[in-house]
Amino acid sequence: MSPGNVAVKKKTPPSSGDKQHPIGLDIGTANIVVYMDERTDAGVQMEANAFFTVPSMPNTRKILEDKSVRFFEKENCLHILGTAAETFSNILGGATRRPMENGLVNLREDDGIHVIQAILDPMLPEPVQKDHSLWFSVPGDPIDRQGAVIFNESIFKTYLKGRGYMPRPINEAMAVVMSELSDQHATGIGISMGGGMCNVCFSYLSIPAVTYSIQKGGDFIDQTVGRSVGESATKIKSIKEQALDLGVAPRNNIEHGLHAAYDDLFATLADSLAKGLRGSDNMPRLSQAVPIVLSGGTVLPPGSRERFETILNEIDLPIRIATVMQARDPLYATARGAYLMAAADES
Ligand SMILES: Nc1ncnc2c1ncn2[C@@H]1O[C@H](COP(=O)(O)OP(=O)(O)O)[C@@H](O)[C@H]1O
Ligand SMILES: [Mg+2]
Repeated sequence: MSPGNVAVKKKTPPSSGDKQHPIGLDIGTANIVVYMDERTDAGVQMEANAFFTVPSMPNTRKILEDKSVRFFEKENCLHILGTAAETFSNILGGATRRPMENGLVNLREDDGIHVIQAILDPMLPEPVQKDHSLWFSVPGDPIDRQGAVIFNESIFKTYLKGRGYMPRPINEAMAVVMSELSDQHATGIGISMGGGMCNVCFSYLSIPAVTYSIQKGGDFIDQTVGRSVGESATKIKSIKEQALDLGVAPRNNIEHGLHAAYDDLFATLADSLAKGLRGSDNMPRLSQAVPIVLSGGTVLPPGSRERFETILNEIDLPIRIATVMQARDPLYATARGAYLMAAADES
């Protein structure tokens, strides 16, 4: 299947010059993040992993190209890509579509893989040399669906190899540990709460001892609240992102629903931690207390760290928790961890 024509936004990633930049890549259900340099803002790029379809009119293509909007043309339709898709859906009404669902490539969406590639193509620079090191995040197996992630990993590996990279996978929550717990010898629990899933990794001295995911996240919150109050998930998502504070009492039905859905998600996670750690043969017998670090867009509302800690305190875990902290930059922590691995690869 031909991916059709792809218009590329004129913004180009920072030039690598002659030097090979390590690259960290996080392909999530909601967002794709490329991390290439800690020191400049231009070293991090994020695009929504989404597209919005409009009919192809005679002038539309030219206007979109002039406005540097990325799109992909197929069968008299234009798929507007990335963050621009969200802008179009807000202005024109209607929902964006997603190439991924619950953390995995949605195989029911025909153009899904091509859409992801079209979003990624201009975000990644040309490799400077053969086998340029690139680490990309992969989810852990969902608790009740062993093996579900293998297909995902191989799709992205094939694409990245085709672009001339030497791709290396890293578990998404392990990448969070590498990014945030380096001064604790990479020992602790990383949790990445994204749109489609939550990933968990217990790392001991940088070795991932227990990893798994649950297929619930921000999308679950938007959908369950939307259903119960009779609003679209898109509207709930926007209220959640702009106004939710889990530290203050809810003021209306939507906020009541959001608080309840967050409690449900946090309780599911806390419960899974108790079961996942207790049930694992790999769980190190540790006497020391370990930190938990929370990341991903779903932990952004104020009060979420405290709320998660309260719910976790009600659960009997097989390990002592020293502290529950939030990642410095929850949307970038996974990509940053992958970047640090790529940087270490080169030194
Ligand atoms: N300020 C915010 N408050 C609450 N939720 C947010 C905020 N910003 C983003 N999110 C949610 O975070 C999720 C995306 O997080 P991300 O870590 O990028 O996910 P993924 O790994 O699935 O791509 C979405 O569900 C989005 O609604
Ligand atoms: Mg993620």
